[in-house]
Amino acid sequence: MNLSGKRIVLGISGGIAAYKCAELVRRLKERQCEVKVVMTDSAKHFITPLTMQAVSGEPVSDSLLDPNAEAAMGHIEFAKWADLILVAPATSNVIAKMAAGIADDLITTLLLATPAKVAIAPAMNQQMYAHPATQRNLATLARDGIEIWGPGQGEQACGDIGKGRMLEPNDLVERCMTALVPEEQPLKGKVVTITAGPTREALDPVRYISNHSSGKMGYGLAEAAVKMGATVHLISGPVKLSAPSGVCVSHVNSAVEMCDEALRLAIVSDIFIGCAAVADYRAADVAAQKIKKQGDEMTLTLVKNPDIIAQVASLSQNRPYTVGFAAETQDVEQYAKGKLKNKKLDMICANDVSQEGLGFNSDNNALTLFWQDNQISLPASSKRELALTVIKAIASKLD
Ligand code: C5P
Repeated sequence: MNLSGKRIVLGISGGIAAYKCAELVRRLKERQCEVKVVMTDSAKHFITPLTMQAVSGEPVSDSLLDPNAEAAMGHIEFAKWADLILVAPATSNVIAKMAAGIADDLITTLLLATPAKVAIAPAMNQQMYAHPATQRNLATLARDGIEIWGPGQGEQACGDIGKGRMLEPNDLVERCMTALVPEEQPLKGKVVTITAGPTREALDPVRYISNHSSGKMGYGLAEAAVKMGATVHLISGPVKLSAPSGVCVSHVNSAVEMCDEALRLAIVSDIFIGCAAVADYRAADVAAQKIKKQGDEMTLTLVKNPDIIAQVASLSQNRPYTVGFAAETQDVEQYAKGKLKNKKLDMICANDVSQEGLGFNSDNNALTLFWQDNQISLPASSKRELALTVIKAIASKLD
């Protein structure tokens, strides 16, 4: 999918994430998008107009009152030229101005003058993002129909950890495509249930057994299925992600809780995707009180958890098309094909979690999809992009 013939005005405001805008413009240009860049004065402290001019191949606009620029393309004409105006990074200051309808520089003036879609990619310190004034302004923008992309969570330039990171350039490019290129909806009228994240198996009131699953792949699948027109139920173990819009989420902790919810929803679903990293075992007895230190060794007795996806795949009535995941550290193909057969799945998506930078907790992944009679390898890319390919592959198998 490309953005040929689409026109984006990228408004860069003054935050440290501005340095990523060169990469963003390059990725948009790779998709044949026409991009014009507008910068605030403070943005120029973080990335130079010359850099942005070089990557966009267009002069950079920065002033509302520049007679030369106005002679080339007046600001109203400029506002009409765009199919999308994306403000990235959007600082708390520009967000506040937008919410108040202030137009005191070229970006904010274009935003008032444009009939185009407007999106912002907020980026700021986590405390500034959490401030009630910023949240109030974002709510106003959402009510005004402005799309708010992100922010992401994690380590910040200032050293803080929290919500406020600008979404990565690849992620923003995908959102531009969703906003500008109408997608087919092959899953319209279909119900999809997805399990995601880890499970937590309690040992006592304060301790548990779990794993490193971040839930990103499962949440990406849920988002992709919504985009393809499906009604989506997500059964999520404990993760740090917010629910994708339009998805109905059931929060669970243990494998047994996840299993109950999965069996309840599977029979009303057309597709069931088991993306959760379900703990294989749980404590035979959960201690009512905190377990005390005992000697140099201790023994825990574990019992097997239900195999959720195998139970779904064995349903004799109302069985959905059932898709599993296999995260392996060796002999990926052999183990994945074994699981496909033993669990009676229709399809399995296998990944090698021993590869550096891929799989658990990462934003990227590489998958091989296996059916009884076929397989395809999907090279490393973002989990969101892969999720869309997986959902399209599943949709192509339904009648
Ligand atoms: O853990 P395992 O490699 O067997 O996981 C393969 C598939 O089985 C995954 O789709 C996972 O969500 C599912 N699974 C499950 N219930 C379990 C264990 C795994 O649904 N108890």
